[in-house]
Amino acid sequence: MFRTNTCGELRLSDAGKQVTLAGWVQRTRKMGGMTFVDLRDRYGITQLVFNEEINADLCEKANKLGREFVIQVIGTVNERESKNKNLPTGEIEIIVSELNILNTSLTPPFTIEDNTDGGDDIRMKYRYLDLRRSTVRQNIELRHRMTMEVRRYLDSKGFLEIETPMLIGSTPEGARDFVVPSRMNPGQFYALPQSPQTLKQLLMVAGMDRYFQIVKCFRDEDLRADRQPEFTQIDCEMSFVDQEDVISTFEGMAKHLFKELRGVELTEAFPRMPWSEAMRLYGSDKPDTRFGMEFVELMDVLKGTGEFSVFNNAAYIGGICAEGCASYTRKQLDQLTDFVKRSQIGAKGLVYARVQEDGSVKSSVDKFYSQEVLQNLKEAMQAKPGDLILIMSGDDTMKTRKQLCELRLEMGNRLGLRDKNKFSLLWVVDFPMFEWSEEEGRLMAMHHPFTHPKDEDIPLLDTHPEQVRADAYDMVCNGVEVGGGSIRIFDPELQDKMFQILGFTKEKAQEQFGFLMNAFKYGAPPHGGLAYGLDRWVSLFAGLDTIRDCIAFPKNNSGRDVMLDAPSCIDQKQLDELNLQIAKIEE
Ligand code: AMO
Repeated sequence: MFRTNTCGELRLSDAGKQVTLAGWVQRTRKMGGMTFVDLRDRYGITQLVFNEEINADLCEKANKLGREFVIQVIGTVNERESKNKNLPTGEIEIIVSELNILNTSLTPPFTIEDNTDGGDDIRMKYRYLDLRRSTVRQNIELRHRMTMEVRRYLDSKGFLEIETPMLIGSTPEGARDFVVPSRMNPGQFYALPQSPQTLKQLLMVAGMDRYFQIVKCFRDEDLRADRQPEFTQIDCEMSFVDQEDVISTFEGMAKHLFKELRGVELTEAFPRMPWSEAMRLYGSDKPDTRFGMEFVELMDVLKGTGEFSVFNNAAYIGGICAEGCASYTRKQLDQLTDFVKRSQIGAKGLVYARVQEDGSVKSSVDKFYSQEVLQNLKEAMQAKPGDLILIMSGDDTMKTRKQLCELRLEMGNRLGLRDKNKFSLLWVVDFPMFEWSEEEGRLMAMHHPFTHPKDEDIPLLDTHPEQVRADAYDMVCNGVEVGGGSIRIFDPELQDKMFQILGFTKEKAQEQFGFLMNAFKYGAPPHGGLAYGLDRWVSLFAGLDTIRDCIAFPKNNSGRDVMLDAPSCIDQKQLDELNLQIAKIEE
């Protein structure tokens, strides 16, 4: 038997037992005639003891153990003299009587402990070593437990887990496709799914009624902390449902996950916020509602009421009130101004107003406004003595709101209002059906082209398509979009009209989506669904800053797998087989 116990298992009640353990050497410490070894496996760490006086040869062998050597030991469980309260096995140690070195190891390029000295790049290159660290391993374990709970919940609700193909045609979800050349069909390409959207709709036509899949999706888009080119969805679809049915099923799943994995009972229904409200109050379709600091529109108060031309020419002026921040120094305010002027945010400036202890207002635009106007500002912002009002303006309402949103989140960070152990969930509903794309010069589907417009807005499709709202919903937690979905169009005529508004010719729509449109002619049931982002859920539950840390082998910010050194060139023979030629790449 390789081992009788794991390294996380033995307790004081096991004292006196003879055991065999196996694992990796985390550390060796020599103290007087004793050698202590921390032995690690997936389950924990157990201290081994070698005593020179009892067995000098064995102790010498232990002294030669290097970090990450793989060993097996036989010994007796003993009560420790100095107990380690931070370790579950901290009350015992193993007095070793036999040591077998199963494998040696090169010195690892970073310390494999909770607080490592390894930077990001090196840890990604040696990810298999990084995964030995308990902090990283725990995220992978949490991910496993989450997928098990997802399956348990969905199975209990009658969902079938069905796999859909990875080599498909293009699925429009707004990102670029990753494509795969076909050897047997020269010059033709598969696309990897951005999501199984059309396939799950076909499963509804097929009468599967309730489908789910924990599925890899691929999107060639710019990466961020909560985006990977290859990520996992909990993808679901249901037949004979309306928006309420879908929302209640998946709100139920969220509550189930919170209960089973975080021990949190969420009894109340999650709030619902129309998209327009989310944009007005938070400048974002994924507002972080762990804290207030909502936007107040100040057009009436500040436009045309003073000589400040920036505000007088603005299409939008909005402010937030940072409670108790009137004491911010000039330096702190300059830092905030620099923050909003950063290229990623792109604001031109920031105006501030301090509410003094006597109630008067002192602002960076004092010379342009009377105290009366500044008092109106204070009132509109519901600011108290000691508060700081921060104001931004611009000629594009959406853009300015987004900039103010960044400032609000930054203030939330600075004031410690974004506690990772607090969860604030909501549904954002009533998304616009379309958004204008400057790049494409046409309307694009905000969710995807199969989303059903709100019944009452259907007449607007012909006259004011930009005003049409969709039966689409996102679940947001702590400012992260953890899932999204919609009720789908199942009427081929309405679907045709959507394609028309999106600028598809009849031929182009038929070429790209003929398979779906044809299927809809054979008795498509009303249906709708949602996809949760598994990586985002796990990282929220684990309190991570990036989803990378809950993925066993993630890509870096340039979309590279530095461990496998992918993507990489392929040899000429492979290119020839695929009938591909690489155009000269400029260095
Ligand atoms: P959507 O595009 O909103 O909807 O994606 C659903 C959820 O997937 C997660 N997600 C991502 N996670 C990590 N990295 C990415 N690059 C990434 N992109 C998306 C998010 C998001 O909420 N087919 C529809 C769903 C439907 O209508 O049923 C879809 O894919 O958490």
